[in-house]
Amino acid sequence: MDKFPYKGVALAGIIRLGDLPVHRLGFGAMRLCGDSAWGRPRDRGHANRVLHRAIELGVNLIDTADSYGPEANESQISEALYPYPPGLVIATKGGLVRPNRRSWVEDGRPEHLRRAVEGSLQRLRLERIDLYQLHAPDPNVPFAESMEALADLKRAGKIRHIGISNVTVAQLEAARSITPIVSVQNPYNLRNRTSEDVLAACERLGIAFLPWYPLGGKRGLKALKVKQVASRRGLTHAALSLAWLLAKSPVMLPIPGTRSIDHLEDNVRAASLRLAPEDIADLG
Ligand SMILES: NC(=O)c1ccc[n+]([C@@H]2O[C@H](COP(=O)([O-])OP(=O)(O)OC[C@H]3O[C@@H](n4cnc5c(N)ncnc54)[C@H](OP(=O)(O)O)[C@@H]3O)[C@@H](O)[C@H]2O)c1
Repeated sequence: MDKFPYKGVALAGIIRLGDLPVHRLGFGAMRLCGDSAWGRPRDRGHANRVLHRAIELGVNLIDTADSYGPEANESQISEALYPYPPGLVIATKGGLVRPNRRSWVEDGRPEHLRRAVEGSLQRLRLERIDLYQLHAPDPNVPFAESMEALADLKRAGKIRHIGISNVTVAQLEAARSITPIVSVQNPYNLRNRTSEDVLAACERLGIAFLPWYPLGGKRGLKALKVKQVASRRGLTHAALSLAWLLAKSPVMLPIPGTRSIDHLEDNVRAASLRLAPEDIADLG
């Protein structure tokens, strides 16, 4: 019998990415690469076990990108999980390149995005990518050109749904004027709420908001108010931070990442937590 005493991420409820229902707590695979999202994991067998455990716990949205590794993260996912279980949505991203481990450089040129989608399809062993996200607008390429390229790829059947990442409300509106957008992925956590306006726009539109860096790093997890509420409720800081996100908005779809099965299980606990109004008030 499974020693894990929780029912898994199903308790977080469901949100739709276009026509695709997913549990409202996903898994961000970036941390399965080497340090700085560069190279392969030191222990590929262990990385495979983390991905399998995520699926066992009910995760049916995995977020990745061609720039994680680069390429290695997508290959790791197909190595571990192909043939994919029914209902698993793999969300990948393109539009950033990695000349070296320290650099992330935008490339939103249509010809690059076309090549990037072909590469992701191959590495993920898919005929169509369920959710393809523009990783970030390219300041050197008109945003509309990047979005039109993705709309063309969708029409060509290579992409099922389009998402965007690291955008403003104005860019969300500009993208929507070109093609339907099912999700936005921006940084958001207890400490960093600079995308509050984008979250509000997603709520108005009824589309998913995927907060990246949802745990807010060591400083986020150790913030005084998090410590106080977590100790009062007997929770880990990570589970509390994720439960706060889930309570914050019905369109919130956190994608926490980890290399550790214990941390993965801890994060999944957030799905079954219901914070009291005083907890939410104390967290601000
Ligand atoms: N769109 C973008 O530009 C963008 C940028 C960054 C990330 N992302 C996506 O967002 C996902 C999540 O972002 P992220 O990995 O930067 O941030 P995160 O999920 O908030 O944090 C991951 C870090 O927290 C630690 N951690 C995870 N669970 C923990 C727990 N229960 N207790 C203590 N520590 C824990 C991990 O270390 P351990 O491995 O030791 O657990 C890791 O160092 C990524 O995987 C990626 O898919 C997107």
